Amino acid sequence: MCDTPAAASEPHDADHDEPDHDDTAARAGQRAEPVVRTAEARDHPAILDLWDAAGMLSYVADPGGDLARTADADPELVLVAEHAGAPPPDGHEAGSSGAGEHPVVGTVLGTWDGRRGWIMRLAVAPALRRSGVGKALVAELERRLRGRGADQINLLVFADNRGALSFWQELGYRATAPVVLMTRRVEACGEE
Ligand SMILES: CC(C)(COP(=O)(O)OP(=O)(O)OC[C@H]1O[C@@H](n2cnc3c(N)ncnc32)[C@H](O)[C@@H]1OP(=O)(O)O)[C@@H](O)C(=O)NCCC(=O)NCCS
Repeated sequence: MCDTPAAASEPHDADHDEPDHDDTAARAGQRAEPVVRTAEARDHPAILDLWDAAGMLSYVADPGGDLARTADADPELVLVAEHAGAPPPDGHEAGSSGAGEHPVVGTVLGTWDGRRGWIMRLAVAPALRRSGVGKALVAELERRLRGRGADQINLLVFADNRGALSFWQELGYRATAPVVLMTRRVEACGEE
């Protein structure tokens, strides 16, 4: 999941466990050549494809709207990774075309609340997992959040998403003492 407390108020924001993919890059002994950059509006369909492949769409009412609003609020914290070593994609498994030259194979969102950075919605194309794409995305997002002044970066992970937990631990993230997420649905009211 990787979501802010507000967004996580949707009861299930992502898959609980990473699906097994026999054709991951790791099993094939590949390393990707990720080029991480700020996402553009033209990348949004590719980002939605990645969330779909990661099981992150099923419980979100308006994922496209959420993405557009997040990008409007802070475009520099919406990232995609292109796989520079790959030819244009021929299917969603390997990555989807975006605004750049190469297929978009990973994405992550960040927010900065003025005190801490938050990481959300990290997803890598199933066929390219275990090839360094997730790590490259997080490294760039951390760099940008530190540039805002963040000295702490948080994220939420479903407790049964074992693959993601191993990933975050590998990157130096540690679980806090248990906390309870308190949430309430409210009606949005736009600006008059
Ligand atoms: C979690 C996820 C983003 C990781 O991305 P990735 O590109 O595969 O990760 P990397 O290749 O950069 O992994 C870096 C290191 O993290 C660890 N790691 C990553 N995935 C792992 C897994 N499934 N099991 C155990 N360790 C893992 C490994 O140490 C890995 O290094 P190695 O491959 O050299 O051993 C990806 O598996 C994914 O998209 N999962 C589905 C969506 C999801 O769960 N997102 C996270 C929500 S909190």
